[in-house]
Amino acid sequence: MQVISTVAELRQRLDQQASVAFVPTMGNLHAGHLHLVELAKQHGQCVVVSIFVNPLQFGANEDLASYPRTLQADCEKLEAAGVDIVFAPAEKEVYPAPQTISITLPPIADELCGASRPGHFSGVATVVLKLFNMVRPDVAVFGKKDFQQLFLIRELVKQLNLPIEIVAGDTRREEDGLAMSSRNGYLSDAQRLEAPRLQRALKLVVEAVQKGNQDYTAIEAQTTQFLTQLGWIVDYISIRSAETLHPAEKPDRKLVALAAARLGKTRLIDNIEFSLDS
Ligand code: PAJ
Repeated sequence: MQVISTVAELRQRLDQQASVAFVPTMGNLHAGHLHLVELAKQHGQCVVVSIFVNPLQFGANEDLASYPRTLQADCEKLEAAGVDIVFAPAEKEVYPAPQTISITLPPIADELCGASRPGHFSGVATVVLKLFNMVRPDVAVFGKKDFQQLFLIRELVKQLNLPIEIVAGDTRREEDGLAMSSRNGYLSDAQRLEAPRLQRALKLVVEAVQKGNQDYTAIEAQTTQFLTQLGWIVDYISIRSAETLHPAEKPDRKLVALAAARLGKTRLIDNIEFSLDS
């Protein structure tokens, strides 16, 4: 495995590759990321993983400074997983000059996570497009845990005609159901015990909808109230079309229940995709 930090060296190394599968990450890798690596191995001869904590996607009051940076441990995991190249650029390599060009996204980027993180998805889309241009992959793999991110990356690829196939990986969870996340490490012991409730609450949402309750707004409000009483600060609980991400309407059969909520300062997100029998 090679660890590369400049675009020039990356380009040189990838020049002769028949097919490249790419997994963009911000590091502090866990089994969820490694699951995406396994998918990448099935889709390309050369697997590239990037590790870059992208300042552009963090808001002013967010955790950019404290975001866990564990490059050495990450590289050990990636080497054991059979990755060919780790691309770990410095900030100046990705942003040699102020990034005054950015990607404007469809209005859905301002809903859900975008509502509490203004500009976040534009920062994600901008860095992902830049990374795509640096790595020039045939296939790129993203996790369904970040459902809205995956949706917007698919739109980016479609609307800008990028010659890249997007592959989605299922969410990897801890034994108690908590979705794996680099941010789980911020949780205190008591918060860690409480954290899996987010997924359990989403399961109750799915059950209610599948049993025929069509008052989605009421289900969302009740779930928000339930979590709030238990000390969560809920950003949203939302039942959406899995195909358009618009609020679910009666004819929609493929749905997704999404949540974002904070325990103390730690913001957790999760979602469950489900369908309604017609
Ligand atoms: P990061 O949070 O490091 O996630 C990298 C990839 O891993 C994303 O596609 C994410 O959806 C996926 N992932 C995270 N947790 C997962 C889990 N429990 N199971 C399966 N996949 C999981 O997402 C980002 O970085 C950044 O926004 C990035 C796309 C790299 C742009 O900076």
